[in-house]
Amino acid sequence: MDSSKNAIGFFDSGVGGTSIWKEVTTLLPNENTIYLSDSKNAPYGAKTKEEIIQLCVKNTRFLLEQNCKTIVVACNTATTNAINFLRKNYNIPFIGIEPAIKPASLITKTKKIGILATKGTLNSTLFEKTANSLKNDIIIKETIGTGLVELIENGKLNSLEITTLLHTYLQPMLAENIDALVLGCTHYPYLTNHIRKIVGTKIQIIDSGEAVARQTKAVLNKHNLQNQSKASAKHVLFINKNKGVLEQLISKKHTTIIEREF
Ligand code: DGL
Repeated sequence: MDSSKNAIGFFDSGVGGTSIWKEVTTLLPNENTIYLSDSKNAPYGAKTKEEIIQLCVKNTRFLLEQNCKTIVVACNTATTNAINFLRKNYNIPFIGIEPAIKPASLITKTKKIGILATKGTLNSTLFEKTANSLKNDIIIKETIGTGLVELIENGKLNSLEITTLLHTYLQPMLAENIDALVLGCTHYPYLTNHIRKIVGTKIQIIDSGEAVARQTKAVLNKHNLQNQSKASAKHVLFINKNKGVLEQLISKKHTTIIEREF
């Protein structure tokens, strides 16, 4: 059966994964998409691995009911804790996102890279494995971005609370002389302007959005799943809490935002 016109599914603990969805839909303009913002259960980062897996299974089932042809796990916390489980249990290609510490380790001159991510990501075995695979002379300064996801989910992207927290998290890394900062949570690219004001121009800010988009394209090619239709692609975004927050972030054509349970 030809499933190439079926949508690419995405899920995240909330609205942050749309930073990835934007990259993918820009690189692959023919593709229909369905995005799940599980805002009701955000943040995932403070939950146990078992709880995160359960939520990922719920999201995956919903996307499979919508006949998605592949799923992008647009959340570092979900990927680092649950993607192995999902790949073992569901017969569909999954694309995940991991903090870009490897690319950062290749460009740093001071040999010190900072990473801002959730507790769930930084404590995961997958992250530990990637961190251990870097060259010995690279020092990673890890910081948990406590509270940032919640503020973004509450529509407080441009608040004093956000800038105050960012100062608290970034100043110690700057004092350690990092020259690359990895955004290890898909909510954080929405904070890039605020972060840039704090870290200045000498530090490279790295997120994984473009790499995930390229990987999604490669996976579709590999499985012969590219949508060849010339019709405008359709996008449906489901959110299970306060759709106004998502509406503020999305302005793409042919996009419908629906607030409902899933
Ligand atoms: N966007 C999610 C991530 O990339 C946020 C996780 C959370 O909900 O704590 O990790």
